[in-house]
Amino acid sequence: MSPGGRKAHPPGRSMPPQALPMTKSVSNFEDWVDLFHQWQKDIGYDTTLLGDFQFESKFADEDSPVIEFGDYKGRPKWQTFNQIPNQQVKDALLSLIVYQGDTEFASVEQQRHLVSTAPSDYDLKSLVRINSEEMRHGWQMATLLVNHFGETGKVEAAKLLERRSWDNQRLLGSFNEPVRHWLDFFVFTEFVDRDGKYQLKMLSRSAFSPLARSMGPMLKEEAFHLGTGHTGLRRVVQAGKIPTPLLQKYVNHWVPTAYDLFGKDASSTAHWAYVWGIKCRFNELETEDAVDKKTLNDYNRTLYYNECVELMDQLNTIVPASQPKLVAPSLKFNRKIGQWEGQKFTVEGEAFHGSDAAYADYLKSVLPSAEDEARLAEIFKTHDWIAPKGK
Ligand SMILES: [Fe+2]
Ligand SMILES: [Fe+2]
Repeated sequence: MSPGGRKAHPPGRSMPPQALPMTKSVSNFEDWVDLFHQWQKDIGYDTTLLGDFQFESKFADEDSPVIEFGDYKGRPKWQTFNQIPNQQVKDALLSLIVYQGDTEFASVEQQRHLVSTAPSDYDLKSLVRINSEEMRHGWQMATLLVNHFGETGKVEAAKLLERRSWDNQRLLGSFNEPVRHWLDFFVFTEFVDRDGKYQLKMLSRSAFSPLARSMGPMLKEEAFHLGTGHTGLRRVVQAGKIPTPLLQKYVNHWVPTAYDLFGKDASSTAHWAYVWGIKCRFNELETEDAVDKKTLNDYNRTLYYNECVELMDQLNTIVPASQPKLVAPSLKFNRKIGQWEGQKFTVEGEAFHGSDAAYADYLKSVLPSAEDEARLAEIFKTHDWIAPKGK
């Protein structure tokens, strides 16, 4: 099963994963912290960059003492594991927390090498702040697992630090893709961290109070990550050294992976998470729309897509008239899960009528190729491929 339909990709990975033989035992949170420091070493993160960053759990005040949606609506929120109504709900919550924690550590693994190629001191500081906060988010999820979910939670907290992005072991597709350079980084933070904003907000009204109260501080920090992505892309467009058709290829690569993060269109996991009051819609408290529990993932994904379209509209205001405008890829393009999985559509969402071989050629033409990477590497050498901050 997968939480809220954030279906594991590649397919076939079951959840929660079985304990790996190498899983270290954790009997308390201090043990887990030792594993965390070992993980930092193992992935080669230069911890001197982190300065005096405080790794700690942060809990906001309760937004509402009662459950706000689903079948338990109006009843008191659950403060402890024992108050969670039954084993199925406990398992679903554990899974949601594991998936969230997995993305946090994965993103640091993906981005760790960028510290040596930062285009400016400002960008290096932003990267290190984002990495520190992602580590803190993983720390927060591990706190919930170790303190509330018994032996299983302790095993899962250890495993958050054992899977590796570069070994394709992270639980969701976007987090096994290499972030090759700073253009990938800005596209990733703009679009994949933005998925994070959606996931965190959907958990922020959870019936399990410690999870819900974790979300406010995480959302505040996440806002900086999205902002870094968006202003980064603005600065790239302003500098005018990376042609928009080349930039578009990187958007085409990352954005469909972010669409996939919302999970299968008709997901029973998302359905039950809503019924049990543990994960709501992104706009739960703002919308008058009647809830359709069968298509929750697609509903949230469509809200996300609409936001991507707006972001592109904003960027297009500074794209010079001589360059093609940027587009948010269609929800049908290059999907790995859901109703459009494996089907032939163009970036714009038109059906592609050619053969499979012709479609493979089309994909090569709209996704980053080895030649594109080589071209970018040359552009990066110019050092003025990105406008200074605040220009
Ligand atoms: Fe995060
Ligand atoms: Fe983030």
